[in-house]
Amino acid sequence: MSKKVETIGVLTSGGDAPGMNAAIRSVVRTALGHGKRVFGVRKGYNGLIQGDIFEMDARSVSNIIHSGGTVLYTARCKEFYTDAGPRKAADMCRVFGIDGLVVIGGDGSFKGAERLSELGINTIGVPGTIDLDIACTDYTIGFDTAVNTAMEAIDKIRDTSTSHERCSIVEVMGRHAGYIALWCGIINGAEQILLPEMENVTEEEMIRGILNNREKGKKHNLIIVAEGVGGSAELAKRIEAITGIETRASILGHLQRGGIPTATDRFHASMMGSYAVDLLLAGKSNRVVAYKDGQYCDFDITEALKMKKHLDDYQIKVSGMLENK
Ligand code: F6P
Repeated sequence: MSKKVETIGVLTSGGDAPGMNAAIRSVVRTALGHGKRVFGVRKGYNGLIQGDIFEMDARSVSNIIHSGGTVLYTARCKEFYTDAGPRKAADMCRVFGIDGLVVIGGDGSFKGAERLSELGINTIGVPGTIDLDIACTDYTIGFDTAVNTAMEAIDKIRDTSTSHERCSIVEVMGRHAGYIALWCGIINGAEQILLPEMENVTEEEMIRGILNNREKGKKHNLIIVAEGVGGSAELAKRIEAITGIETRASILGHLQRGGIPTATDRFHASMMGSYAVDLLLAGKSNRVVAYKDGQYCDFDITEALKMKKHLDDYQIKVSGMLENK
Protein backbone atom coordinates (compact mmCIF):
# COMPACT_ATOMS: atom_id res chain seq x y z
CA MET A 1 0.00 0.00 0.00
CA SER A 2 1.40 3.42 -0.92
CA LYS A 3 0.25 7.00 -0.44
CA LYS A 4 -2.86 8.48 -2.10
CA VAL A 5 -2.40 10.52 -5.24
CA GLU A 6 -3.64 13.98 -6.12
CA THR A 7 -2.08 14.51 -9.55
CA ILE A 8 -2.08 11.79 -12.17
CA GLY A 9 0.16 11.48 -15.21
CA VAL A 10 -0.55 9.27 -18.20
CA LEU A 11 1.76 8.05 -20.94
CA THR A 12 1.85 5.49 -23.73
CA SER A 13 5.02 3.50 -24.24
CA GLY A 14 6.47 0.87 -26.61
CA GLY A 15 4.69 -0.12 -29.81
CA ASP A 16 1.42 1.73 -30.30
CA ALA A 17 -1.85 -0.20 -30.36
CA PRO A 18 -5.35 0.73 -31.54
CA GLY A 19 -7.44 1.63 -28.50
CA MET A 20 -4.66 3.45 -26.66
CA ASN A 21 -6.53 6.73 -27.24
CA ALA A 22 -9.67 5.30 -25.67
CA ALA A 23 -7.55 4.30 -22.66
CA ILE A 24 -6.00 7.78 -22.38
CA ARG A 25 -9.49 9.34 -22.58
CA SER A 26 -10.74 7.05 -19.86
CA VAL A 27 -7.81 7.82 -17.54
CA VAL A 28 -8.21 11.56 -18.04
CA ARG A 29 -11.99 11.69 -17.62
CA THR A 30 -12.07 9.32 -14.63
CA ALA A 31 -9.34 11.27 -12.84
CA LEU A 32 -10.99 14.63 -13.55
CA GLY A 33 -14.31 13.20 -12.41
CA HIS A 34 -12.68 12.53 -9.04
CA GLY A 35 -11.38 16.10 -8.86
CA LYS A 36 -7.75 15.18 -9.60
CA ARG A 37 -5.36 17.09 -11.88
CA VAL A 38 -4.11 15.20 -14.94
CA PHE A 39 -0.92 15.60 -16.94
CA GLY A 40 -0.24 13.99 -20.30
CA VAL A 41 3.32 12.87 -20.98
CA ARG A 42 4.34 12.85 -24.65
CA LYS A 43 6.60 10.20 -26.24
CA GLY A 44 6.59 7.67 -23.41
CA TYR A 45 9.43 7.59 -20.91
CA ASN A 46 11.57 9.78 -23.19
CA GLY A 47 9.06 12.58 -22.68
CA LEU A 48 8.95 11.93 -18.95
CA ILE A 49 12.73 12.27 -18.67
CA GLN A 50 12.71 15.41 -20.82
CA GLY A 51 9.68 17.02 -19.16
CA ASP A 52 7.51 16.92 -22.30
CA ILE A 53 4.45 17.15 -20.08
CA PHE A 54 1.22 19.20 -20.32
CA GLU A 55 -1.92 19.58 -18.24
CA MET A 56 -5.02 17.89 -19.68
CA ASP A 57 -8.70 18.71 -19.28
CA ALA A 58 -11.83 16.93 -20.47
CA ARG A 59 -11.56 18.60 -23.89
CA SER A 60 -7.96 17.37 -24.37
CA VAL A 61 -9.42 13.96 -25.07
CA SER A 62 -12.44 14.99 -27.15
CA ASN A 63 -12.92 13.21 -30.44
CA ILE A 64 -10.14 10.63 -30.00
CA ILE A 65 -12.01 7.50 -28.92
CA HIS A 66 -12.33 6.29 -32.51
CA SER A 67 -8.81 7.10 -33.71
CA GLY A 68 -5.83 4.77 -34.07
CA GLY A 69 -2.33 5.57 -32.84
CA THR A 70 -1.82 7.53 -29.65
CA VAL A 71 -2.34 11.28 -29.23
CA LEU A 72 0.42 11.19 -26.60
CA TYR A 73 2.87 9.63 -29.09
CA THR A 74 5.03 6.75 -27.97
CA ALA A 75 8.63 5.57 -27.96
CA ARG A 76 10.91 2.77 -26.86
CA CYS A 77 13.23 4.42 -24.34
CA LYS A 78 16.73 2.90 -24.00
CA GLU A 79 17.67 5.35 -21.23
CA PHE A 80 15.06 3.78 -18.98
CA TYR A 81 17.17 0.63 -18.80
CA THR A 82 20.00 2.63 -17.17
CA ASP A 83 20.10 3.56 -13.51
CA ALA A 84 19.97 7.27 -14.26
CA GLY A 85 16.94 7.23 -16.62
CA PRO A 86 14.23 6.28 -14.09
CA ARG A 87 15.77 8.59 -11.47
CA LYS A 88 15.54 11.55 -13.86
CA ALA A 89 11.95 10.56 -14.67
CA ALA A 90 10.99 10.32 -10.99
CA ASP A 91 12.55 13.75 -10.38
CA MET A 92 10.56 15.15 -13.30
CA CYS A 93 7.36 13.68 -11.86
CA ARG A 94 8.08 15.56 -8.63
CA VAL A 95 8.74 18.79 -10.57
CA PHE A 96 5.23 18.56 -12.07
CA GLY A 97 3.68 17.27 -8.85
CA ILE A 98 2.78 13.94 -10.49
CA ASP A 99 2.40 11.41 -7.69
CA GLY A 100 0.57 8.73 -9.68
CA LEU A 101 1.34 7.56 -13.20
CA VAL A 102 -0.63 5.35 -15.59
CA VAL A 103 1.60 3.59 -18.10
CA ILE A 104 -0.17 2.14 -21.14
CA GLY A 105 2.07 -0.38 -22.91
CA GLY A 106 3.59 -3.85 -22.75
CA ASP A 107 5.95 -5.77 -20.47
CA GLY A 108 8.97 -3.55 -21.25
CA SER A 109 6.95 -0.50 -20.25
CA PHE A 110 5.84 -2.19 -17.03
CA LYS A 111 9.49 -2.78 -16.05
CA GLY A 112 9.87 1.01 -16.17
CA ALA A 113 6.71 1.42 -14.08
CA GLU A 114 8.11 -1.05 -11.52
CA ARG A 115 11.32 0.99 -11.24
CA LEU A 116 9.42 4.27 -10.84
CA SER A 117 7.32 2.71 -8.11
CA GLU A 118 10.52 1.77 -6.26
CA LEU A 119 11.53 5.42 -6.60
CA GLY A 120 8.37 6.63 -4.88
CA ILE A 121 6.01 7.37 -7.80
CA ASN A 122 2.80 5.35 -7.63
CA THR A 123 2.45 3.52 -10.94
CA ILE A 124 -0.22 1.43 -12.61
CA GLY A 125 0.24 -0.46 -15.91
CA VAL A 126 -2.50 -0.87 -18.50
CA PRO A 127 -1.84 -3.66 -21.03
CA GLY A 128 -1.64 -2.15 -24.51
CA THR A 129 -0.04 -4.23 -27.24
CA ILE A 130 -1.28 -5.88 -30.41
CA ASP A 131 0.77 -8.99 -29.50
CA LEU A 132 -1.53 -10.28 -26.69
CA ASP A 133 1.64 -11.46 -24.96
CA ILE A 134 1.20 -10.15 -21.40
CA ALA A 135 0.96 -13.22 -19.20
CA CYS A 136 -1.29 -11.95 -16.41
CA THR A 137 -4.15 -10.90 -18.69
CA ASP A 138 -6.41 -12.64 -21.18
CA TYR A 139 -6.71 -9.43 -23.20
CA THR A 140 -4.39 -6.64 -24.31
CA ILE A 141 -5.66 -3.44 -25.91
CA GLY A 142 -5.09 -3.46 -29.66
CA PHE A 143 -5.17 -7.18 -30.35
CA ASP A 144 -8.71 -7.32 -31.72
CA THR A 145 -8.18 -4.45 -34.16
CA ALA A 146 -4.82 -5.83 -35.29
CA VAL A 147 -6.11 -9.33 -35.88
CA ASN A 148 -9.13 -7.98 -37.80
CA THR A 149 -6.86 -5.80 -39.92
CA ALA A 150 -4.63 -8.78 -40.68
CA MET A 151 -7.65 -10.99 -41.41
CA GLU A 152 -9.04 -8.53 -43.96
CA ALA A 153 -5.66 -8.14 -45.66
CA ILE A 154 -5.18 -11.91 -45.83
CA ASP A 155 -8.69 -12.42 -47.28
CA LYS A 156 -7.66 -10.09 -50.11
CA ILE A 157 -4.38 -11.91 -50.67
CA ARG A 158 -6.34 -15.17 -50.78
CA ASP A 159 -8.54 -13.80 -53.60
CA THR A 160 -5.60 -13.06 -55.85
CA SER A 161 -3.84 -16.24 -54.77
CA THR A 162 -6.84 -18.27 -55.97
CA SER A 163 -7.14 -16.35 -59.26
CA HIS A 164 -3.50 -17.06 -60.07
CA GLU A 165 -3.45 -20.53 -58.49
CA ARG A 166 -0.51 -19.45 -56.38
CA CYS A 167 0.93 -20.29 -53.03
CA SER A 168 0.88 -17.26 -50.70
CA ILE A 169 3.01 -16.76 -47.66
CA VAL A 170 1.81 -13.99 -45.35
CA GLU A 171 3.95 -12.77 -42.49
CA VAL A 172 2.08 -11.18 -39.59
CA MET A 173 3.44 -9.28 -36.57
CA GLY A 174 4.65 -10.93 -33.40
CA ARG A 175 8.39 -11.12 -32.79
CA HIS A 176 8.08 -13.35 -29.74
CA ALA A 177 4.39 -14.19 -29.76
CA GLY A 178 2.34 -16.12 -32.29
CA TYR A 179 -1.15 -15.02 -31.24
CA ILE A 180 -1.90 -12.96 -34.36
CA ALA A 181 -0.48 -15.77 -36.54
CA LEU A 182 -2.45 -18.49 -34.75
CA TRP A 183 -5.70 -16.52 -34.88
CA CYS A 184 -5.21 -15.61 -38.56
CA GLY A 185 -4.32 -19.19 -39.36
CA ILE A 186 -7.67 -20.28 -37.94
CA ILE A 187 -9.88 -17.39 -39.12
CA ASN A 188 -8.35 -17.13 -42.59
CA GLY A 189 -8.38 -20.88 -43.15
CA ALA A 190 -4.64 -21.23 -43.72
CA GLU A 191 -3.10 -24.45 -44.96
CA GLN A 192 -0.13 -24.00 -42.59
CA ILE A 193 0.80 -21.79 -39.63
CA LEU A 194 4.37 -21.19 -38.45
CA LEU A 195 4.71 -19.95 -34.86
CA PRO A 196 7.74 -18.79 -32.86
CA GLU A 197 6.72 -20.65 -29.69
CA MET A 198 6.87 -24.16 -31.10
CA GLU A 199 8.59 -26.58 -33.36
CA ASN A 200 6.92 -26.15 -36.72
CA VAL A 201 6.58 -28.56 -39.64
CA THR A 202 9.73 -29.04 -41.65
CA GLU A 203 10.05 -27.43 -45.07
CA GLU A 204 9.81 -30.89 -46.65
CA GLU A 205 6.53 -31.60 -44.85
CA MET A 206 5.22 -28.20 -45.89
CA ILE A 207 6.10 -28.83 -49.52
CA ARG A 208 4.48 -32.28 -49.44
CA GLY A 209 1.34 -30.56 -48.10
CA ILE A 210 1.38 -28.00 -50.91
CA LEU A 211 1.78 -30.72 -53.56
CA ASN A 212 -1.01 -32.83 -51.98
CA ASN A 213 -3.32 -29.82 -51.92
CA ARG A 214 -2.62 -29.18 -55.59
CA GLU A 215 -3.44 -32.80 -56.38
CA LYS A 216 -6.70 -32.47 -54.48
CA GLY A 217 -7.58 -29.55 -56.77
CA LYS A 218 -6.98 -26.70 -54.32
CA LYS A 219 -6.45 -23.45 -56.20
CA HIS A 220 -4.50 -21.61 -53.56
CA ASN A 221 -2.23 -22.44 -50.67
CA LEU A 222 -2.02 -20.03 -47.76
CA ILE A 223 0.81 -20.16 -45.25
CA ILE A 224 0.79 -17.76 -42.28
CA VAL A 225 4.19 -17.04 -40.77
CA ALA A 226 4.71 -15.15 -37.51
CA GLU A 227 7.31 -12.38 -37.62
CA GLY A 228 9.34 -14.24 -34.99
CA VAL A 229 9.78 -17.16 -37.40
CA GLY A 230 10.54 -14.80 -40.32
CA GLY A 231 12.27 -15.70 -43.56
CA SER A 232 9.07 -15.50 -45.66
CA ALA A 233 10.66 -14.11 -48.84
CA GLU A 234 13.35 -16.82 -48.89
CA LEU A 235 10.80 -19.52 -48.09
CA ALA A 236 8.66 -18.37 -51.04
CA LYS A 237 11.63 -18.63 -53.39
CA ARG A 238 12.49 -22.13 -52.21
CA ILE A 239 8.88 -23.37 -52.45
CA GLU A 240 8.58 -22.00 -55.99
CA ALA A 241 11.90 -23.51 -57.04
CA ILE A 242 11.03 -26.97 -55.69
CA THR A 243 7.31 -27.21 -56.55
CA GLY A 244 7.19 -25.09 -59.69
CA ILE A 245 4.12 -23.39 -58.16
CA GLU A 246 4.26 -19.60 -58.30
CA THR A 247 4.73 -18.39 -54.72
CA ARG A 248 4.55 -14.88 -53.33
CA ALA A 249 5.41 -13.55 -49.88
CA SER A 250 3.63 -10.55 -48.30
CA ILE A 251 4.83 -9.01 -45.07
CA LEU A 252 1.90 -7.14 -43.54
CA GLY A 253 4.09 -5.15 -41.13
CA HIS A 254 3.03 -1.98 -39.39
CA LEU A 255 -0.37 -1.64 -41.03
CA GLN A 256 -1.44 -4.05 -38.27
CA ARG A 257 -0.66 -1.41 -35.65
CA GLY A 258 -2.89 1.33 -37.04
CA GLY A 259 -6.52 1.89 -37.86
CA ILE A 260 -9.86 2.55 -36.21
CA PRO A 261 -10.08 0.55 -32.97
CA THR A 262 -12.81 -2.07 -32.83
CA ALA A 263 -15.63 -2.04 -30.28
CA THR A 264 -13.77 -4.68 -28.24
CA ASP A 265 -10.62 -2.57 -28.06
CA ARG A 266 -12.49 0.64 -27.20
CA PHE A 267 -14.49 -1.14 -24.50
CA HIS A 268 -11.56 -2.85 -22.75
CA ALA A 269 -9.49 0.35 -23.05
CA SER A 270 -12.24 2.40 -21.44
CA MET A 271 -12.70 -0.08 -18.61
CA MET A 272 -9.00 -0.61 -17.98
CA GLY A 273 -8.17 3.13 -18.04
CA SER A 274 -10.83 3.80 -15.44
CA TYR A 275 -9.74 0.80 -13.35
CA ALA A 276 -6.16 2.11 -13.35
CA VAL A 277 -7.27 5.44 -11.90
CA ASP A 278 -9.39 3.66 -9.27
CA LEU A 279 -6.27 1.74 -8.19
CA LEU A 280 -4.29 4.97 -7.86
CA LEU A 281 -7.11 6.56 -5.87
CA ALA A 282 -7.08 3.53 -3.56
CA GLY A 283 -3.41 4.26 -2.85
CA LYS A 284 -2.08 1.30 -4.88
CA SER A 285 1.21 1.22 -6.74
CA ASN A 286 3.20 -1.25 -8.86
CA ARG A 287 -0.01 -2.90 -10.12
CA VAL A 288 -1.04 -3.91 -13.62
CA VAL A 289 -4.66 -3.97 -14.73
CA ALA A 290 -5.77 -7.28 -16.22
CA TYR A 291 -8.83 -8.96 -17.71
CA LYS A 292 -9.00 -12.52 -16.46
CA ASP A 293 -11.85 -15.03 -16.74
CA GLY A 294 -14.29 -12.30 -17.73
CA GLN A 295 -13.41 -9.92 -14.86
CA TYR A 296 -11.21 -6.85 -14.58
CA CYS A 297 -8.64 -7.31 -11.85
CA ASP A 298 -5.06 -6.34 -11.02
CA PHE A 299 -1.71 -7.98 -10.30
CA ASP A 300 1.53 -6.91 -8.70
CA ILE A 301 3.76 -5.82 -11.59
CA THR A 302 6.79 -7.68 -10.25
CA GLU A 303 4.76 -10.91 -10.00
CA ALA A 304 3.12 -10.30 -13.38
CA LEU A 305 6.48 -9.88 -15.10
CA LYS A 306 7.56 -13.31 -13.84
CA MET A 307 4.47 -15.06 -15.24
CA LYS A 308 4.74 -17.04 -18.46
CA LYS A 309 2.09 -17.14 -21.15
CA HIS A 310 1.66 -20.14 -23.42
CA LEU A 311 -0.34 -20.56 -26.57
CA ASP A 312 -3.49 -22.50 -25.83
CA ASP A 313 -3.00 -26.21 -26.56
CA TYR A 314 -6.58 -26.70 -27.68
CA GLN A 315 -6.37 -23.76 -30.13
CA ILE A 316 -3.21 -25.28 -31.58
CA LYS A 317 -4.89 -28.68 -31.83
CA VAL A 318 -7.91 -27.19 -33.62
CA SER A 319 -5.71 -25.20 -36.01
CA GLY A 320 -3.89 -28.46 -36.84
CA MET A 321 -7.23 -30.22 -37.46
CA LEU A 322 -8.36 -27.54 -39.88
CA GLU A 323 -5.10 -27.17 -41.85
CA ASN A 324 -4.26 -28.88 -45.10
CA LYS A 325 -7.66 -30.55 -45.60
O1 F6P B 1 5.04 -5.14 -29.86
C1 F6P B 1 4.28 -4.88 -30.97
C2 F6P B 1 5.07 -5.08 -32.24
O2 F6P B 1 4.28 -4.62 -33.31
C3 F6P B 1 5.56 -6.49 -32.49
O3 F6P B 1 4.57 -7.34 -33.01
C4 F6P B 1 6.68 -6.23 -33.44
O4 F6P B 1 7.60 -7.28 -33.39
C5 F6P B 1 7.27 -4.96 -32.94
O5 F6P B 1 6.25 -4.30 -32.21
C6 F6P B 1 7.80 -4.03 -34.00
O6 F6P B 1 8.37 -2.94 -33.38
P1 F6P B 1 8.81 -1.60 -34.12
O7 F6P B 1 7.56 -0.78 -34.32
O8 F6P B 1 9.75 -0.97 -33.19
O9 F6P B 1 9.39 -1.99 -35.44
